[in-house]
Amino acid sequence: MSNETASEAVTLPKPLAEMADDVLRTADAREKTALSRRYAALWQEARKNGQTPDIGTASPPDSPARPTEPPLLDPRDVPRRKPGTPEGRIAILHAVAHIELNAVDLHWDIIARFGHVKMPIGFYDDWVKSADEESKHFNLMADCLEAQGSHYGALPAHAGMWRAAEDTAEDLMGRLAVVPMVLEARGLDVTPGMIKIFKQAKDTKAIEALEVIYAEEVGHVAYGSKWFHFLCGRHDLDPKDVFHDLVLKYFHSTLRPPFNEEKRAEAGIPPDFYWPLADEMHKN
Ligand SMILES: [Fe+2]
Ligand SMILES: [Fe+2]
Repeated sequence: MSNETASEAVTLPKPLAEMADDVLRTADAREKTALSRRYAALWQEARKNGQTPDIGTASPPDSPARPTEPPLLDPRDVPRRKPGTPEGRIAILHAVAHIELNAVDLHWDIIARFGHVKMPIGFYDDWVKSADEESKHFNLMADCLEAQGSHYGALPAHAGMWRAAEDTAEDLMGRLAVVPMVLEARGLDVTPGMIKIFKQAKDTKAIEALEVIYAEEVGHVAYGSKWFHFLCGRHDLDPKDVFHDLVLKYFHSTLRPPFNEEKRAEAGIPPDFYWPLADEMHKN
């Protein structure tokens, strides 16, 4: 058992919003995830110690610093490769690594950008934990790529992943609706199919990594739903209607079935949140 007297106070180097800003301004991917994990560990140690550290405010960059490689291309120009080939599997791992790196920045950005909106401390606990997990996910994917003689940066990646963040930079509820509740929820829909591809290839390292990602992503979607509902309650709004309005306003792609209804339910996203949007978008 740990001793009962409170351990010594953990000193954070700066308020949390400024720590978030530091991560956003770190360009190298491995350095970004290392700083992200170090800051997350400090925050979590302080919280475990009963402290309520300062959140502060920051002026985060419009887009986060990124490594010079990979080149970022319009999604239509990113070459597609057959998943049944080793090159195809490397392309999948590379695409997931890119998504995870983007997710690291997205979770720190919500902390850095919305410091002026008063939120309970648990809001910050949730996004620090998510950012830490995304950092781990990126490292897992980068390790898988390196084990196969490739690396993150070896292939072109999607430009425009930051679009959702830019579009919702002024709207915390819009950010929650589009990022965790649409984009990360989409991850729950597609990850089982990816795991299947790596099972067919008997790639144990990739299977284990993707299973970690799949399990932890449910939590990120759930945090999105939790704080979205919290803010609806604060402003006396109907969550389902507001969700539909915000997704139509800020999300420029389509919601496509099949949906992973079970995992979405586990994460607090009921079918009447997404099915009407899928039907609406398919009409056009
Ligand atoms: Fe992730
Ligand atoms: Fe995530």
